[in-house]
Amino acid sequence: MTPVQAMLHGATGLSVSKSAAERAIRSRMELLAAANEDDYLERMTPEELTALVELVVVPESWFYRDPQAFHATAEFVRARLDADAGRTVRILSVPCAGGEEPYTLAMVLSDAGIPHDSYFIDALDISPACVARATDGVYGRNAFRSQDLGFRDRHFTGIGDEEYRISAAIRRQVRFRQGNLLDLDVSARRGYYDVIFCRNLLIYFDKPTTRAAIAQLEALLTDGGVLFAGYAEVPSFCQFGFMPLQYPQAFGLKKEALPSAPAARAAARQAAGAAPMRAPRTPPTTTARRRVARPQPVPVQATLPAPAIAIDLLAEARRLADLGQLKQAETRCRDHLAQAPDSAEAYFILGLVNELTNRPQLAEDYWKRCIYLQPDHYEALCHLALLADSNNDPATATALKARAARIYKRQQAS
Ligand SMILES: C[S@@+](CC[C@H](N)C(=O)[O-])C[C@H]1O[C@@H](n2cnc3c(N)ncnc32)[C@H](O)[C@@H]1O
Repeated sequence: MTPVQAMLHGATGLSVSKSAAERAIRSRMELLAAANEDDYLERMTPEELTALVELVVVPESWFYRDPQAFHATAEFVRARLDADAGRTVRILSVPCAGGEEPYTLAMVLSDAGIPHDSYFIDALDISPACVARATDGVYGRNAFRSQDLGFRDRHFTGIGDEEYRISAAIRRQVRFRQGNLLDLDVSARRGYYDVIFCRNLLIYFDKPTTRAAIAQLEALLTDGGVLFAGYAEVPSFCQFGFMPLQYPQAFGLKKEALPSAPAARAAARQAAGAAPMRAPRTPPTTTARRRVARPQPVPVQATLPAPAIAIDLLAEARRLADLGQLKQAETRCRDHLAQAPDSAEAYFILGLVNELTNRPQLAEDYWKRCIYLQPDHYEALCHLALLADSNNDPATATALKARAARIYKRQQAS
């Protein structure tokens, strides 16, 4: 990392490429007529850093981007209000870019007949330019990319030059603020939000920053609240304490129950339609504590026609692994493989057993065999990604996570 990349990372959490950092700094140096990079860095001020940051953020957003999340929110908010009509539902959009995401939320809720005084939306972005644009509420063609533009007629006024201003009624629902998610003091807002949108931010973060950001979000979200992520970000949330919810193509997640409550976790996983928990009751190792939830399990039978007796052995292997009886689980897997040598699931369980007994190399071999036999095995891909992360191989980890995310998206769509 160059000093400028490090400075940008420190200020934003973003992993900025060397070329992007150099482009930004050249542009600022030209503007300030700095003699060279050292000269520029010596003259650095907080204001100058903000200006430099503006050149590296990616404020790409548009109305109704990945619309299912907004509709799922309307469903969720309605259920909350049905359960308690007197409450105010609190929503956070971070990062909000130029306001497209929080305004879409307000439009969808308004169109769903949710009373304006029953919710509010806080919206945060690190970029002052984004927040100024959002507060202004004027948008050009680029912000209207969805096919159905009926919302534009309902909630905007044309002001010429293909520009549109958001209505005052929608504008009032959102409170904008400039800030860095990573620096937020969450102590005053612990468990405060019922709904959080955090989409298309973690993809720009490295692993420690991702973990720090998720910890902030976890603190801000109320128990029983819902968080919507970008589709490529779901595996990271699953890795750090969240589990997927079954809103089709919305990429909604909830906080996982406390790690010390295996029964609650198993119930939560079942509620989410995931496979039974496989954590052992033996004392967890660092790797054993890592959890990956599968959004929509592909039934073993669907991809693997196997004799009933083989399936029973596999179920038994899982049950034993759940109980922490790893040796016996391994034996059942091997018995199962003797009858169904192409069983991806058996290799997956063998991978878990080996990970839990501190044999990561063997675990890796088994999971690789698993995805060779079943390339869309989401959990195996996630576990391999985590392993690559702990082996300091971020490129492989990123590729595996992206592949897992594609599979997640496909499974949600089907
Ligand atoms: C690609 S946009 C995502 C906007 C919106 N959530 C969406 O999905 O359309 C990314 C935004 O993240 C903001 N950002 C980057 N680092 C941030 C941080 N540490 N805290 C808050 N916002 C940040 C950028 O300014 C940019 O507007």
